[in-house]
Amino acid sequence: MRERPVSTLKLAASALAALVATFWFCLATRGGARPQERPGSSFEQRVPYVPSPPDIVEKMLELAEVTSRDRVYDLGSGDGRIVIIAAQKFGARAVGIELDEKLSEEASARIAELGLQDRAKIIHGDIFNSDFSLATVVTLYLLTWTNERLRPLLERQLRPGTRIVSHDFQVPGWKPEKEVKLMSKNGVPHTLFLYVRP
Ligand SMILES: C[S@@+](CC[C@H](N)C(=O)[O-])C[C@H]1O[C@@H](n2cnc3c(N)ncnc32)[C@H](O)[C@@H]1O
Repeated sequence: MRERPVSTLKLAASALAALVATFWFCLATRGGARPQERPGSSFEQRVPYVPSPPDIVEKMLELAEVTSRDRVYDLGSGDGRIVIIAAQKFGARAVGIELDEKLSEEASARIAELGLQDRAKIIHGDIFNSDFSLATVVTLYLLTWTNERLRPLLERQLRPGTRIVSHDFQVPGWKPEKEVKLMSKNGVPHTLFLYVRP
């Protein structure tokens, strides 16, 4: 029987979950203490860098019906591709927030190279300590537990009508307005969830 391909981030998430379980098991069996969580940077919140394929980025922005009137925030922006495509192809103002310094520098350099500085920027920082209240559209490609921790912040900061598109991972406790299953050009299945803040 042919097996269905699984998205790269889902594979990475499973591997990470196994790693975390092993880590906790080792700690528990050694009677070790739980590592101190620093606000916004516990290992639970760390999400591996796996970029969304460009054709899927376009679908995410289309699903949110992004126009030049929008302010798009990509939380965990990686190499900045969502920010760049939102500014370049959709004419939106776009901001990425990225924890990894190297990735955020590379993304900023790419934005400068493309001459998009008037519409696109990257903030090197932690999404859990960030202000994204100006967003009219938020894009996420994080993990379910990250989305769960992020939810109260999204609920506090985002204005009614703000659209949120999450790639592959739901925001627990929210009901999606739309759930779209599609195949990327390289034959990998993806799911997009569209939420609208009430
Ligand atoms: C799966 S990648 C998605 C990248 C990009 N949004 C895309 O779809 O191509 C997740 C990104 O989130 C970043 N990230 C993880 N935790 C973060 C945090 N607390 N604050 C900011 N960025 C974070 C990672 O460094 C990584 O680049």
